[in-house]
Formats: sequence, C-alpha cells, structure tokens
Amino acid sequence: SSAMLWAALLGLLLGSIPFGLVLTRAAGLGDIRSIGSGNIGATNVLRTGNKKLAAATLLLDFLKGAVAVWLAGALFGPETAGIAAIAAVLGHCHPPWLGFRGGKGVATALGVFLALAWPVFVAAGLTWLAMAKLVKISSASALAGLLVAALVAWLWGGWPLFWPVALIVAYVYLRHHANIRRLLAGTEPRIGQGK
Ligand code: G3P
Repeated sequence: SSAMLWAALLGLLLGSIPFGLVLTRAAGLGDIRSIGSGNIGATNVLRTGNKKLAAATLLLDFLKGAVAVWLAGALFGPETAGIAAIAAVLGHCHPPWLGFRGGKGVATALGVFLALAWPVFVAAGLTWLAMAKLVKISSASALAGLLVAALVAWLWGGWPLFWPVALIVAYVYLRHHANIRRLLAGTEPRIGQGK
C-alpha cells in the first residue's frame, strides 16, 4: 500500500543521515572513513579521541531510528512501524549520499527497538552495557545485545514483533562480518582502541 511506501521512504531518509560523518567533519577531524575501522558509527568516532562527539553520534543515530518509527506510526498508521524500522536501519547502512556505503546499524537498531517495543530496547541495551563492561569490545557487546533483542521480541510480541526485529538483527550481523572474523581470530580491538 502507499502508506507502507511512505513509511519506507521516511525511514530511509531519516536513517541515511550520517551523523558520525557530519559531526566529525564539523569538528575538523577529517573524514571518519579514513580513521580506525573506517566505520561512520559512534565506536569509530570514539577512536578520534573525542568522547563527547562519540556520545552525540550514538545518541543521534539512535534517535533517528526511534523518530522514524514513531513518525511513520503517527503519520501512516501503526501497521507501518515495522517497515519504517527496517528502512531506517537499511538507510543508515546504505546512505545514497555516501555511495550507499554507510554504517553497521547498531545504534539505529536500538532506536527503532525503543519505538517498536521498549522491552526489546531495554533488554538489548542492558545486555550491551553489561557486555561492554565485561569484555570491553563494542562489536561483541552489540552482537550479544541484538541476539537478546530477537529473543525478547519473540517472547514479548510473537511474530508481528519478531519478524522486523529478527530481520534487522540478521542484517546488522551481516554488516559485522569483518568484526566477527576479527573476534574469532582474537584480534578485535577493545573499546576506544585503534582500528
Ligand atoms: O556498531 C559498530 C560496532 O559494533 C563496531 O564498530 O568501528 O569497531 O567496526 P567498529
């Protein structure tokens, strides 16, 4: 339906705002894509040494996901929320303005989870935090949180909630293929460290 199409477009547009790139560029730090992992997300912004900028990237990438889902639900109907959620994460991962080469989707996924069903966000967020404290590796913490998100989505909402969440989780896992290879090789850097 056209409501679904509009929701997808809104999600793609909001999701594709590359806050990490915009903020680091505005701060005169050069192109974030030539630093560390080359990713445009908060973890890599932290590798510039600017903690406030990394926190702002995390928050804004998170908020654009939540806002996309809330707005789509309000404007085009609650049944469009799942489509807007998927589109926002895809938009972050593939911004047209960056030749479709964007981020890995963790912060934006957490944002859409908050708007879709807050318990999914809380469970994923707490898992991420606990893992970040325990193992101090951003990718591993995110991947653990996402797994919990899929589980809680299933328990909390059944199929209607599980399918968008599981699709997003699967896609963000795919975006982390290089991280997963490094994790298995034991060469993935700790939070705040180079590469
Ligand atoms: O969200 C991205 C994070 O999980 C890993 O980022 O820069 O270490 O590849 P990075």
